Amino acid sequence: MSETVIKLENLTKKFGNFTAVDSINLEVCRGETIGLVGPNGAGKTTTIKMIAKILRPNSGQILIKTNGSELKDLQHVSSTVSQIGFLIDIPNFYNMTAYQLLKYFGKIQRYPKNKLENRIDELLMFFKLSEWKFERVRNFSKGMTQKLGIIQAILHDPDIIILDEPQTGLDPLARIEIRKYLRKLQSLGKTIFVASHMLYEISEVCDKIALINYGKIIGFDTVENLALTLKTSELNCLTLKPLDAEKLAPLLSRMVEKLNPYLDQNLDPNISKIPIKYNPLHQGFKLYFDGKNDSKGEILKILVNEFESDFTVISFTQPKTSQLERVYSQMVKGSTPEEPSKLKGDDIRNEQ
Ligand SMILES: Nc1ncnc2c1ncn2[C@@H]1O[C@H](COP(=O)(O)OP(=O)(O)OP(=O)(O)O)[C@@H](O)[C@H]1O
Ligand SMILES: [Mg+2]
Repeated sequence: MSETVIKLENLTKKFGNFTAVDSINLEVCRGETIGLVGPNGAGKTTTIKMIAKILRPNSGQILIKTNGSELKDLQHVSSTVSQIGFLIDIPNFYNMTAYQLLKYFGKIQRYPKNKLENRIDELLMFFKLSEWKFERVRNFSKGMTQKLGIIQAILHDPDIIILDEPQTGLDPLARIEIRKYLRKLQSLGKTIFVASHMLYEISEVCDKIALINYGKIIGFDTVENLALTLKTSELNCLTLKPLDAEKLAPLLSRMVEKLNPYLDQNLDPNISKIPIKYNPLHQGFKLYFDGKNDSKGEILKILVNEFESDFTVISFTQPKTSQLERVYSQMVKGSTPEEPSKLKGDDIRNEQ
């Protein structure tokens, strides 16, 4: 049975009379990777800061299960520093070298002293920062500082890892490295809770997505299940060779006719006028279908068997990212703040 390790119960945070996090309920099980996704100002960082005990909730509670204990109110758990790893906001690292800084964190996170040197070297190597070990952190680029922040979060090998926007400021190669590392952590059974805007990164690594808007969770499920709320689903079908432009129109109408029972009959004209589109640049079709799993199989069968002499299918996929993008925009646009006036009071930025 899945074991809950983080439980947010009616968690609420107000800044003055502005509700940044509005009665959130969420459960994260051991070994799961959960993505917290939502627009700017939705309440992601505020939620994470409450889990990190940087902010105190106004009401509700956070329950945490650390090694060998029961789910406990976070306020009564003293060992969070050594058992949870946090990356919050862009790290602000003082005038130390990378090595000094990581040694310092290793110490406060109570990582065994005799293993710390190796651990630091191993992580610096993985994140391609070995050459910078004795450089002052203030000379690091934004992306390098971000990587160091991630190293700091996982240095003490915690079971629960909570990352706020880990990919911010990273180049594509570094993002691939982080993704790779997150997968490695998953394979080690770690529980990961990650806030991000990067829908691709999230859809690639997360088991489930929690969508947050105006401080409220508006959806929490796998990408596949969230996508079931979409009125239409996409399939991408690539062909071996480009199609002859002159034969395209009759071919498309033949395809629409043959595939008709499985295609989306009520397609929103803002998405597309017809349910099959050919894109010569990508050398492939985009098909809007009814989203049913069985339909996918039937469509592929028809494309392969009945259009054999027209084209050869070399790939047939249901893109995860574009589904998530559409779920995201559909759900975020559809959710509005409860009270229309969300005017904030005085400057309360420093309120804890
Ligand atoms: N200390 C504070 N004082 C007043 N308002 C705050 C404070 N911290 C956050 N807020 C407000 O709470 C809301 C949620 O902010 P939060 O930083 O949690 O959003 P976010 O989802 O992390 O956004 P982003 O994607 O931009 O990082 C925002 O409207 C923000 O202005
Ligand atoms: Mg944030």
